[in-house]
Amino acid sequence: MSTPVIEPDAAGIARAVATLRAGGLVAFPTETVYGLGADARSTAAVRSIFVAKERPHDNPLIVHVADARQLEDVAVDVPAAAFALARRFWPGALTLVLRRGPAIPAEVSRGLDTLAVRVPAHPVALALLQAFNGPIAAPSANRSGRPSPTQAAHVLADLDGRIDLILDGGGAALGIESTVLDLVGPRPLLLRRGAVTREALAEALGEVDVATSEDEASRRSPGLRHRHYAPRCRVTLAPAGAGLEVALALRDQHGPRDMIGLMVRGPAAPPPPGVLLRSLPEALEGYAGALFAALRELEGRDVAAIVVEEVPEEGLGAAIMDRLRRAAAG
Ligand code: TXA
Ligand code: MG
Repeated sequence: MSTPVIEPDAAGIARAVATLRAGGLVAFPTETVYGLGADARSTAAVRSIFVAKERPHDNPLIVHVADARQLEDVAVDVPAAAFALARRFWPGALTLVLRRGPAIPAEVSRGLDTLAVRVPAHPVALALLQAFNGPIAAPSANRSGRPSPTQAAHVLADLDGRIDLILDGGGAALGIESTVLDLVGPRPLLLRRGAVTREALAEALGEVDVATSEDEASRRSPGLRHRHYAPRCRVTLAPAGAGLEVALALRDQHGPRDMIGLMVRGPAAPPPPGVLLRSLPEALEGYAGALFAALRELEGRDVAAIVVEEVPEEGLGAAIMDRLRRAAAG
């Protein structure tokens, strides 16, 4: 059985809503990456997300709502800071961790008494949420551990036959997942770097703590513990400017027929034989948008390894480096 990929026109949205109401799984575009949606109020539907993705059982899901007025339908004791951040960043790539309300089953948060929630900024996601008129739980629509999907074709490659429907809304523009901010603790705590930068949050909040040790982050956000973003081949990081050297060393270690992928930021000279070069946009916004697709594309060319040059760790660069390190750890 293969999964239909359909246009997100009025008929497509109606079909997606009917699928969700029947407890089915629908992949849909958001401005960050594609999500794999299920009715967040249905324990059975939420469980089937974990089966389809082969997602580790301790990794909680983000719930998507149509607007900030629905916050109190899904969360309780919502602090004033949440509404202030919602006014500033929603619809958008900021996920807030709040106290879970009784309408959302514990399965969504894997037993945590908190709930991650956001309003996505993609017209198709918003049209779906409005028509469904309820909360949609949606992790990224990839097989667990794989790079997040930024195109409908990536979803199909990972989940064909395992989910009911894919709404094809073209490329996800931001290309990196939302920022996850915990508002339950005594001070706002950044659990996952993402498309909304720490600098932007600090401007809004005055100050934001970043979960420093991997331990602290993974205690509060169990999903961070798991393998992530990895293509099927090995990924190696290299300092900016040193990628070709590292790629050539790897090429010499491998057999003569093996190709090594090389991803750099900005234009680069044509590489010598044995190295498959992909130059990503110089601007970090464009780079983030192209990153996961480039990893999947090079993997599809059967390279023996992918060398990726590091980017500066500021603004969006911090989120990009987080993803690159996890891909390399895979
Ligand atoms: O941009 C995004 O956030 C995309 C789109 C589809 O919205 N979704 C996404 O979901 O990236 P996922 O499941 O791939 O990542 C969710 C992250 C994980 O790191 C998870 O641990 C964390 O959010 N999370 C979810 N619920 C949480 C909670 N109650 N407390 C702490 N962290 C939570
Ligand atoms: Mg994910």
